[in-house]
Amino acid sequence: CLHGTSSALQKSIPVTHLMEEQQRSPDSSSEDCTVLENVAAGAARQALSCPSHGDNAMELYCSPCDTAVCKECTKGEHAEHAAVPLRDAVEQHRVRLQDQLETTKKRLPEINSAMRSLTEFQQQLSSQKASIEEDIHSTFEDLQKTLNVRKSVLLMELEVTYGLKQKVLQSQLDTLLQGQEEIHDCCSVTEQGLSCSSEAEVLLLKKQMSERLAELASHQYPLQPQENDQLDFLVETEGLKKSVHNLGTIVTTSAVAYETEASGEGLRQCVVGHPTSVIITTKDKDGEPCKTGSASVTAEIFTPDGSVADGEILDNKNGTYEFLYTVPKEGSFTLSLRLYDQHIKGSPFKLKVTKSADVSPSTDGAKKRVKSPGSGHVKQRLAKRPASMFSTSKRKENPIEDDMIFRVGTKGRNKGEFTNLQGVAASSDGNILIADSNNQCVQIFSNDGQFINRFGVRGRSPGQLQRPTGVAVHPNGDIIIADYDNKWVSIFSNDGKFKSKIGAGKLMGPKGVSVDKNGNLIVVDNKACSVLIFQLSGKLLTRFGSRGNGDKQFAGPHFAAVNNDNEIIITDFHNHSVKVFNSEGEFLLKFGSNGEGNGQFNAPTGVAVDASGNIIVADWGNSRIQVFDGSGSFLSYINTSVEPLYGPQGLALTSDGHVVVADSGNHCFKVYRYLQ
Ligand SMILES: *[C@@H]1O[C@H](CO)[C@@H](O)[C@H](O)[C@H]1NC(C)=O
Ligand SMILES: *[C@@H]1O[C@H](CO)[C@@H](O)[C@H](O)[C@H]1NC(C)=O
Ligand SMILES: *[C@@H]1O[C@H](CO)[C@@H](O)[C@H](O)[C@H]1NC(C)=O
Repeated sequence: CLHGTSSALQKSIPVTHLMEEQQRSPDSSSEDCTVLENVAAGAARQALSCPSHGDNAMELYCSPCDTAVCKECTKGEHAEHAAVPLRDAVEQHRVRLQDQLETTKKRLPEINSAMRSLTEFQQQLSSQKASIEEDIHSTFEDLQKTLNVRKSVLLMELEVTYGLKQKVLQSQLDTLLQGQEEIHDCCSVTEQGLSCSSEAEVLLLKKQMSERLAELASHQYPLQPQENDQLDFLVETEGLKKSVHNLGTIVTTSAVAYETEASGEGLRQCVVGHPTSVIITTKDKDGEPCKTGSASVTAEIFTPDGSVADGEILDNKNGTYEFLYTVPKEGSFTLSLRLYDQHIKGSPFKLKVTKSADVSPSTDGAKKRVKSPGSGHVKQRLAKRPASMFSTSKRKENPIEDDMIFRVGTKGRNKGEFTNLQGVAASSDGNILIADSNNQCVQIFSNDGQFINRFGVRGRSPGQLQRPTGVAVHPNGDIIIADYDNKWVSIFSNDGKFKSKIGAGKLMGPKGVSVDKNGNLIVVDNKACSVLIFQLSGKLLTRFGSRGNGDKQFAGPHFAAVNNDNEIIITDFHNHSVKVFNSEGEFLLKFGSNGEGNGQFNAPTGVAVDASGNIIVADWGNSRIQVFDGSGSFLSYINTSVEPLYGPQGLALTSDGHVVVADSGNHCFKVYRYLQ
């Protein structure tokens, strides 16, 4: 290891210079390292000669100049400098270098892990590309098929129309031809007779021909054309061409999480039950704001015991996003904002949730609360809620016991365990289906809570679920799953085999799903604030609703139910109301307002209808279940007092007449007696 040792020192290259070199380029430094090791080893074992003073051994080290010197040197230019034995200096350097080496090597794991993630991104990108390519091919093959079908239909129509006209004209022509021949024949016979005949012959001729001639002379021939000669082709392709010209887009952004920022009061504090918003501004790697939308932004608000708040991310389509949320209880929460699964700048945030009075009056929420004359009253009623719970109920007696029959599940990833369970459905043949959103699967139980099956769990199968939030059972047995993150609805057979997906490209964030009396799918697009009705084949029949607080609008629609009259019932989370529409999407009625009184809501979620048309609603922020009649009048609560709910989500009526609810915050589902 001594080869080429001393050249460096012979040229009196300062040692620190080499070290700087090493620091600057840690991965190309193997040569430098070798040189340094050699320098140290060489100095320790072999005297080096001084370039300025002949063969003098350089045994000393001048620290101010950071170089090896000989005794002669210390008398000359280094006279004023403190020199120490070279061996000691080298030993010191060796120790320091060893330290630096360790420190620098410690960077490798993080670089390796970054490289691994990048490689994963590359793989993800290329598999995404392959699947998009497939999509593009099949989309256009489909279009071509449609075009070809239309082309054949038009050609056939042309053939038929042409044929019919020709047939009419041809038969007219035939009739005329026949007439022409008859006249010819008749006339030539008569002419012959006239030219060369005796009196007797003329008499005979008259007998034979006169009648015939008279008949022909007055015969009605079809002289007017019985058809016209119009045959045109009208087609307007400009609009279509324009559409085709702009058909499809490749959607992406160059936003990165570490530059993306969030702003707004809602990052630090909010008021219980009050919708609060945060603005997220996406930026690229150079910190420049991105101008386009469609990035994957997610938000989560939770306490140490699980995810509790549920909000909406609104895409402003200009690179900014609004996170609109409501928190049900006071306390200290963590707010995580992620872009493409990575925390954005400053995330997670510490969020303080207070009752309105505690909040500084500078926030909008507090101002509104303070001004509202009704709020004090609502609060008082709130405080007395347990006592007055059934006071307006039409039922005579309060139930004496809590209505819960049993509960199933804890937080986890195994069978019968849940992570953020959302939608619930019940099949007519006695099963309960749970959309287990973070575990990316649907789990099936019997009505008495026995685990039966689950499907969708991880892997890259064609039916892979991303975030199943809604589930319904079709009368034909198929299982319908709204997948929020895949932005489509998946259809599985009742034994869990993926069959098809519908609504891709038409849905932005489907949350709840239901089936109407005609077997059509009612899909609640939470992100688009609209409701879409599809045939099972995927054909879109109707779409209604837009973002807003109007009757025919939604501020955050979550789940849907359908009653026996085929009316559609939608919970509007951020408007704190339930809205009812007919099957054409015309508004019929709404009920509910924000509060904790009877018939009021703090963000309604799950909804179901019983055979008499009564509506059962999960009141997420108030952690309770309310029952209304079909006109929206409050009837009663389900008594959940013994084991309180925590942020209930989906809700359904089982085939044996119980209410099953996803108790999301407690990571279980609960089955309750439902008394009518
Ligand atoms: C983006 O759009 C939102 C909503 O339309 C608007 O309030 C905001 O000012 C826009 N931001 C930028 C940077 O254009
Ligand atoms: C709910 O059930 C509990 C437990 O049986 C009971 O103590 C309570 O009074 C019930 N609440 C109402 C309002 O009936
Ligand atoms: C819900 O919508 C109604 C109008 O239909 C509106 O008056 C009310 O303020 C909205 N509620 C909330 C909390 O936005």
